[in-house]
Amino acid sequence: MMSTDDSNRLVSAKALIGTHSYPRHVAIIMDGNGRWAQKRFMPRAFGHQAGVKAVRKIVEYCAKHEVEVLTLFAFSSENWRRPKDEVSLLMALFMATLQREVDKLERNNIRLRFIGDRAAFSDKLQAKMAEAELQTQHNTALTLVIAANYGGRWDLSQAFRTVAEKIADGTLRHQDVSEQLINQYLSTADLPEPDLFIRTGGEQRVSNFLLWQLAYTEMYFTPTLWPDFDQKLLEEAINSFKTRQRRFGHTGEQLLEQSL
Ligand code: IPE
Ligand code: IPE
Ligand code: MG
Repeated sequence: MMSTDDSNRLVSAKALIGTHSYPRHVAIIMDGNGRWAQKRFMPRAFGHQAGVKAVRKIVEYCAKHEVEVLTLFAFSSENWRRPKDEVSLLMALFMATLQREVDKLERNNIRLRFIGDRAAFSDKLQAKMAEAELQTQHNTALTLVIAANYGGRWDLSQAFRTVAEKIADGTLRHQDVSEQLINQYLSTADLPEPDLFIRTGGEQRVSNFLLWQLAYTEMYFTPTLWPDFDQKLLEEAINSFKTRQRRFGHTGEQLLEQSL
C-alpha cells in the first residue's frame, strides 16, 4: 500500500520531470585564479582581476537565459587564512567591483544579494553591500547571490542559533524543529535549491560551500581555471545537467511511469 506521503512524493517527482530540465539555480565555486596567474608568472592578484572578467561574462549569460538564480562563491570563511596582502587585495577588489558594477546590474534588471557573515567586513563595505541590495531588490531577470565570508557550517550555525533563541523565548517549540523550519532560517531561505553545482580549477571538493542546500544538487567539476571559464563552458555544464536523471530517492522506473 502506498501511503499518502508516498503518493505526494511521487506527484512531486512527476512535477520535476521535464519541467526543470534547465537549471533554475546554478551555484559555482570559482576556483583557480591564483594558478591561472602563476602559470603566466604573474602575481595572484592578476588572476583575481581576470576572475572578475569571467564573472561578468557568466552573469550576462545567466541573465539572458533561463537561469533564475546564480550563486557565486567569492570568499569563504576560511579564506581569511590567506596571506594578509592577498586578503586586503580581495577586499579592495570586492569594493571596487561593487562600486563599478551595481548600476550595470540595475540596468540589466539583476537583483544582487549577499550571503555570509558580513560583520567581519569594514563598515564602508557593509554599507555598500546593503545599498546595492536595496537598489536592485525589485529586479527580476536574475538573482545574483554573492557568497562572501560564507561557510556552509556558519550558515547552519546561525540558523540553529536563531531557532534556539526562539525556543528559549517561547516563539517556537522544540517539536517545531523540522527540515522545513531549518530551511527557513538559512541565508538562502527564499531561494530555490541549487540544481547545478560547478567547481572550476580541478579540485573535487565542496570547501564548506552550501552544505545543506547541495543535498540533491547535480555536481559538475571542470579542470578549467576560473578566469578561462566562459559562456561556452557554462553551456557544456548545463548540457551535462540536462542529460541527468534526478531521482530524489525514487527508482528510474518510477520516474518513467510517472512521466507517461
Ligand atoms: C579562487 O581562486 C578565488 C578565491 C578563493 C578568492 P584561488 O585564489 O583559490 O586560486 P587557486 O586555487 O589558488 O589557483
Ligand atoms: C573555495 O576555494 C572558495 C572560493 C572559491 C571563494 P578555495 O581555493 O579557498 O578552496 P580550497 O582551500 O582549495 O579548498
Ligand atoms: Mg583555490
